[in-house]
Amino acid sequence: MKTVESIAKNLKNKKIILRLDLNVPLNKQNITDSNRIDKIIPTLNFLISNNAKILILSHVGRPKGKVIKEFSMKPICDYLKKKLNQNIHFIKTDINNLKKQDLFYGTNQSILMLENLRFYDGEEQNSEEFAKSLASFGDLYVNDAFSCSHRKHASVSNITKYVPSYAGIQLMSEITALKKVTKNITRPITCIIGGSKISTKIKVIKNLMSKFDNLIFVGGMANNILKNKNFQIGRSIFEESCDDIVENIFTLSKKENCKLIYPVDVYVGKEINGSGSVKKISEISEDDLILDIGPETVKILSKIIEQSKTVLWNGPAGYFENENFKNGSLEIAKKIAEKNKKNEIYSVAGGGDTVAALNNFGLTKYFNFVSTAGGAFLEFLEGKELPGIKALE
Ligand code: 3PG
Repeated sequence: MKTVESIAKNLKNKKIILRLDLNVPLNKQNITDSNRIDKIIPTLNFLISNNAKILILSHVGRPKGKVIKEFSMKPICDYLKKKLNQNIHFIKTDINNLKKQDLFYGTNQSILMLENLRFYDGEEQNSEEFAKSLASFGDLYVNDAFSCSHRKHASVSNITKYVPSYAGIQLMSEITALKKVTKNITRPITCIIGGSKISTKIKVIKNLMSKFDNLIFVGGMANNILKNKNFQIGRSIFEESCDDIVENIFTLSKKENCKLIYPVDVYVGKEINGSGSVKKISEISEDDLILDIGPETVKILSKIIEQSKTVLWNGPAGYFENENFKNGSLEIAKKIAEKNKKNEIYSVAGGGDTVAALNNFGLTKYFNFVSTAGGAFLEFLEGKELPGIKALE
């Protein structure tokens, strides 16, 4: 893949069509989590410092080809302006009526942003015509939107047919980090998986089991294992009809020589917003909710992390939103951070809840890479070819 950094010297006055993923959660046009926007600032500063002109393309939400005011890019544009301390000219004109000569005129028009790409059917249909229009707006195209590169959409896929195309800074760092947990691994490697639906992670597990030394199940994910092993899990969340999946995981782990670890004790409560008490997994009662891993389990996990050189973490250990049940996730994060400070571990974390937990603990900076991608992160780990990456190759 050609990277935008490799052509830094040739960017002066070039019009860059920059695909970003500024798909942040909005509540009545207020940004409730700005992570994805904040992460892209170095890319924009890189282009600005190399005197490039920038046309920002992104989507937000799923308006499905219709113009829906609450999915306008305008609040995102306003936030970015403040953050960059630069003027960004917001273009509301229908993309189908927009011409290259309408863009980048005047002195305060060196950074532009188009309205939501998903207001147009052509985007999700990967339409050649729509891709061609987008490509006609600039001299070069840069994809710095790893988190939507699993979508075969016009602005990430077909656009690359019509304009010289490059990989962005964030996209490259995301791929490099993910390769360090899937291909170029420093072993031993431990994978910690939480979340509630085992069926959404089974492809990742199957794809990577042969490469992992330890696979740790926490959170709702572990409940499925406990239930399968005939432990009482009370009213805790679990996924129906997944016994075959669990058995499959155990068979595969033996074949691939990967150690499986799940909780030996847990924090239970009667309601998610209440308090908790520690129980061994053999002591859980019918009206209990499992809401965190217990102290014995934390000790076991700390020891495994201590012996690991690489760690991949996806899914918190408990309901960390309640102070009473955040200990498991916090202790895992602290242990990884402690090793990271001594440069003894390479750590990648991903998934919305894990990122939120790390931000909540103030420990994000002690991870080598924290992915803000959801679907794309999982599909990469599943070993799938991502259309946006393929298009750049
Ligand atoms: C994401 O949030 O994962 C990307 O922006 C893609 O969004 P989508 O799931 O609506 O395609």
